[in-house]
Amino acid sequence: MKITLSVIKADIGGFVGHSSTHPEVVNTVREHVAKEVEKGNLIDSDILTCGDDIAIVMTHTHGVDAELVHKIAWEAFEKGTEVAKKLKLYGAGQDLLTDTFSGNVKGMGPGVAEMEFEERPSEPVIVFFADKTSPSAWNLPLYEMFADPMNTAGLVIDPKMHDGFTFEVLDVYTGKAVKLNTPAELYDLLALIGSVGKYVVKNVYRNYDGEIAATASTQRLSLIAGQYVGKDDPVLIVRAQSGFPAVGEILEPFARPWIVEGWMRGSHNGPLMPVSFEDARPSRFDGPPRVIGAGYQIANGKLIGPADMFKDPAFDKARMVAQDMADILRRQGIFEPHRLPAEEMEYTTLPKVLKRLEGRFYDTEVERLSEEQKIEKEDMD
Ligand code: F6R
Ligand code: MG
Ligand code: MG
Repeated sequence: MKITLSVIKADIGGFVGHSSTHPEVVNTVREHVAKEVEKGNLIDSDILTCGDDIAIVMTHTHGVDAELVHKIAWEAFEKGTEVAKKLKLYGAGQDLLTDTFSGNVKGMGPGVAEMEFEERPSEPVIVFFADKTSPSAWNLPLYEMFADPMNTAGLVIDPKMHDGFTFEVLDVYTGKAVKLNTPAELYDLLALIGSVGKYVVKNVYRNYDGEIAATASTQRLSLIAGQYVGKDDPVLIVRAQSGFPAVGEILEPFARPWIVEGWMRGSHNGPLMPVSFEDARPSRFDGPPRVIGAGYQIANGKLIGPADMFKDPAFDKARMVAQDMADILRRQGIFEPHRLPAEEMEYTTLPKVLKRLEGRFYDTEVERLSEEQKIEKEDMD
């Protein structure tokens, strides 16, 4: 059976501040979507939370970009927003950028990751969900999962994976995408996706048969809204096993924390910490950025799960390392490289500060000259 797995997420209000979600809001969203399952519009649904974000996981047969499915998510978030407003939660409705739904949530604020596939005899998938970071946070782990044989032994050992994978890479500024075939074009891929502020991996396909292997939400809220309205905390769907990376190969990159953009005010670098569902409440300096892994077996479109994939002592060390990395970066305070370079910051007072100081900048070379030399220089100029 061909089914579609859609994950649509939004921040519709934080409890407290930007740290977590409120159960009343989450339940309102859950109930709305569950009713659509009862009506037969969806096969199944689940709700995940990470930090102040809510993700609606849905299975159905309407394909990707289906108006019906996007509308269900939009209306669920609208209902949740009403509750968030009533409770005066922080930033209530912040990711719903327009008042009226117009066919597709893309460009309207929520993040979307969707894929359609023929359900295999057994269909394990993992939905990753991160808070206080951006979709480019997936660039490094996707490379490791699908193109690094030192991470994914299956690339060498499994005949279905041995032909490699093709990465679809999006330039978030122009909206243009390019497909790069690995291992042949591996270095071209890395040349692009190492630039995390500009390029993000959108989809990954298996070369053996073109099957979709992974898909990520690639919205950049700051660019959609033309102004900062919150970090575009991303989701990622990855299919596992039998010709895709094994569950353990998919999780392995997260055992070695790396540094991502986001954290406080969306303007800092920080480690991405893999955590259990209950620990996905970033509070220290509004972080550090968190990621959860929700594992499902899909059975005739039903979501069997979720399993809390990072609730494993084997990830305790990664959490400790991430804490150490956080300490090292926090030591830098407002100084780069903890704080992002000016052009990457989500909001900044720098232009205003520069405007105020405009008339007070002076030429240090001229300042060193005597009064006569200054007059001479002015004449020459
Ligand atoms: C980062 C984030 C928070 C806020 C910060 C300031 O993604 O959501 O770190 O940027 O708490 O929030 P405001 O400007 O709403 O006071
Ligand atoms: Mg928020
Ligand atoms: Mg968030």
